[in-house]
Amino acid sequence: MTLLNIVDLNISLPTTSGIVTASNGISLEIGQGETHCLIGESGCGKTIVALAIMRLLPVNAKISGKIFLNGVNLFSLSNKEMRQIRREQIAMIFEQPQSCLNPVFSVGSQIAEAVKIRDKCSAKASKEKALELMRNVQIPDSHKRYHHYPHEYSGGMAQRAMIAMAMALRPALLIADEPTTSLDVTIQAQIMELIKDLVVQFNTSLFLITHDLEAAFSMCGHVSIMYAGFIMEKGTVENIIKSPKHPYTKALLSTISSEYSSPVRGMPPELTKLPAGCVFHPRCSNAMPVCSKIDPQMEKGVRCHLTMKI
Ligand SMILES: Nc1ncnc2c1ncn2[C@@H]1O[C@H](COP(=O)(O)OP(=O)(O)OP(=O)(O)O)[C@@H](O)[C@H]1O
Ligand SMILES: [Mg+2]
Repeated sequence: MTLLNIVDLNISLPTTSGIVTASNGISLEIGQGETHCLIGESGCGKTIVALAIMRLLPVNAKISGKIFLNGVNLFSLSNKEMRQIRREQIAMIFEQPQSCLNPVFSVGSQIAEAVKIRDKCSAKASKEKALELMRNVQIPDSHKRYHHYPHEYSGGMAQRAMIAMAMALRPALLIADEPTTSLDVTIQAQIMELIKDLVVQFNTSLFLITHDLEAAFSMCGHVSIMYAGFIMEKGTVENIIKSPKHPYTKALLSTISSEYSSPVRGMPPELTKLPAGCVFHPRCSNAMPVCSKIDPQMEKGVRCHLTMKI
């Protein structure tokens, strides 16, 4: 069953240097319990897509398209209804976990609050459950740590606390936006393991945003490759690794496998000045004359004139 269905999502944001087109006709689906990663270079619009799902985009953003969660179009909900969705159905963890915790409450009490919201239980029971969750995510000395404030937590500990909070909510969807980028390498793998535990334990769907191809491929069943606000290719991780179709996907894979030896040259375009035709053509070593004129459509999971010709 489809849990999240993004249909033809277009987002533009006015900035001092022009209008940024951060999402261009993006469509993607995540099934119940499915794990999907969104991969792409810095600035291509990954976080903007995540914020659109949460309906947390700046008020001046121009948005069109639809985002369905369990068949409900999130854009048609009132702010109050959306807050309830954010509280009960979607959890999001970010690169900077400390900034998501409320600085004036102890970390433990914030986890307990999440338990209370979900389980509607007493203060005592929610504290017990919060302590159990803190142990589950390997926060040592949980009884002491329960009373500590966010600034007393390291980045890794704060991310564990965020995961404990997500576990308390047992959300249908977990959005993890670069959850390990700011952490030590040794801790990164542990945090990914915890996310995996959460997903498996509660049959939560995962939308993982990352630059880290290897982590993404080991965590996820499906992948979307994003470039300059467009999805260039999507499919199962297995198929994409076995037979990538888009030159950009091949270039990305060349960073983790010597089988593809065409690292991408040049820089992505400014999102205020997208090139005509295919947005990737100025960097594409397979570009043909048509590529600079006509924007290819997504066909069978690939947006490329090369595959359309075959
Ligand atoms: N609030 C905003 N107002 C205007 N433009 C924005 C805003 N937030 C992001 N942008 C622009 O939108 C584009 C996409 O940004 P986004 O943060 O989604 O990229 P990203 O793929 O998540 O990058 P990274 O991998 O570095 O996190 C960028 O050009 C960015 O400058
Ligand atoms: Mg981002």
